[in-house]
Amino acid sequence: MKGILLAGGSGTRLHPMTIAASKQLLPVYDKPMVYYPLTTLMLAGIRDIMIISTPSDLPQFRRLLGDGARLGLRFAYAEQPTPDGIAQAFLIARDWIGGEACALALGDNLIFADHLSALLQEAAARPRGATVFAYRVRDPERYGVVSFGADGMATDIVEKPHNPTSNWAVTGLYFYDERVCDLAASIRPSPRGELEITDLNRLYLEEGTLQVDRLGRGCAWLDAGKPDSLLHAATFVQTLQERQGLLVGSPEEVAFRMGFIDREALRAEANRLIKTELGRMLLDVVDHT
Ligand code: G1P
Repeated sequence: MKGILLAGGSGTRLHPMTIAASKQLLPVYDKPMVYYPLTTLMLAGIRDIMIISTPSDLPQFRRLLGDGARLGLRFAYAEQPTPDGIAQAFLIARDWIGGEACALALGDNLIFADHLSALLQEAAARPRGATVFAYRVRDPERYGVVSFGADGMATDIVEKPHNPTSNWAVTGLYFYDERVCDLAASIRPSPRGELEITDLNRLYLEEGTLQVDRLGRGCAWLDAGKPDSLLHAATFVQTLQERQGLLVGSPEEVAFRMGFIDREALRAEANRLIKTELGRMLLDVVDHT
């Protein structure tokens, strides 16, 4: 399975911070925002990852992430010239996907949960259909919203409804089978002119192959798209790391734990960051795992 990390958009809700910088490269405590969804894809076992961003921001992502070899990954890069919707990612990446199954993570979505890796690998292993994750929020009208029937099965999925029929928001992490590019090519722009990811998900829902996994109480899903949510996300990461002494959202650590790199490669990564607390925490993983 391949994975797309979508880091486009103009980040207007974070202006002026995002006038000259990509939103997904802003810091979330001690790491660039994009590291968090990157580790989510890695925890699903995905090693082939395409980063899609705007023509002006893409060079910065290349500079940060390189070809991925240091992390045992293979990165590809592609431009989204204009922000025409999330589902457009599958038209842009079509040749690179090459008829495989593909996951998609939005570059401003952070998910933290115990056993996340198992949950994600289960989604990645499903042979047919799509899997999305729903999370209970106070303000569902800001998101794609999914409703459930009495039997717990998803009945409807609507993008930013004025009158939401449930509190379950669809998170920015999606797993699709190998038909995804063809299905994405069949959807048409919404009234706001975008190829909506919700319309793609609805195709799977109507076919009866959309699996909606509900993330429970112990999970945190944060989108760092506004100043307050950016600050909340940073504080959350700081709290977890300082209290537990465990890293959150570190591609180096995840690469090691997933077996993508060995101990010596991790030591080299830690040494590159040795002037930081992050580097010291990585060295701790090297010496005590
Ligand atoms: C997008 C999707 C929405 C989803 C959200 C998650 O919204 O369209 O369905 O719930 O991401 O962050 P956007 O952030 O583009 O407004």
